[in-house]
Amino acid sequence: MIQDYHDFLEEILIPEDQLQKRIAELGSEITRDYQDMDLLLVCILRGAIMFLVDLSRHIHIPHTVDFMAVSSYGIGSRRSEGRARITLDLNVDIRDRNVLIVEDIIDSGHTLQAVLELLKTRQPKSLTVCVLLDKAERREVSIPIRYTGFVIPDKFIFGYGLDIDEYYRNLPFIATLDQSQYKPSQ
Ligand code: IMP
Ligand code: MG
Repeated sequence: MIQDYHDFLEEILIPEDQLQKRIAELGSEITRDYQDMDLLLVCILRGAIMFLVDLSRHIHIPHTVDFMAVSSYGIGSRRSEGRARITLDLNVDIRDRNVLIVEDIIDSGHTLQAVLELLKTRQPKSLTVCVLLDKAERREVSIPIRYTGFVIPDKFIFGYGLDIDEYYRNLPFIATLDQSQYKPSQ
C-alpha cells in the first residue's frame, strides 16, 4: 500500500491560497512583459504541470504551450545527480519565438542548465525562465531566472506537482517531508 501523506507530512510550507495568490501575480507580470509579443510556454514535465495550468490561466495574452521532460534524479534518489537527460523533446519549432520555460523548482540548477543549453541552439527570439520554487542555497551552476514564485529552504518538499517517488503530485499545497516517517514501497 502507498502511504497516506498525513503519515509523513512535517509541515505545510506554502498553503494553497498563498500559492494561488503568488501565481496570479506572476501571471500579471508576464502579461505585462509580453504584451503584443508571441509567447510560447515550455512546461518541464512532470513536476511543473500544476503550475503551468494555473499560471497559463493568469496570462491574459494569446500564448501557446508545449512540453519537455527531463530526468535528473536517479531511481529512489532524493538529490539531483548533477546531470540531466532530455527524455521528451518539444513538438514545435522555437526559432524566432519568445520562449518562457516554466519549471516547478530549481535546486542545483543542472536541469535548467541542460534545457537552456539545448533550446539556445535552436535560436529562439528570446529565452527566459519562470520557476515556482527556488532552493537558492543549493545552487551549483548560475542560471538566469526572470520570474520566481518563492525562495524556499533546503528541505525535501512534495505536493502541487512535486512528487515523492512519483506520488502525491495532486496535493494543492507544498509540504515538507519528515524523512523518518516515510516508507518507500519497494
Ligand atoms: P536541479 O537539477 O538540481 O535544479 O533539480 C531540479 C529538479 O529536481 C526539479 O525539476 C524537480 O523535479 C526535482 N526536485 C528538486 N528538489 C525537489 C524536492 O524537494 N521535491 C521534489 N522534487 C525536487
Ligand atoms: Mg521537475
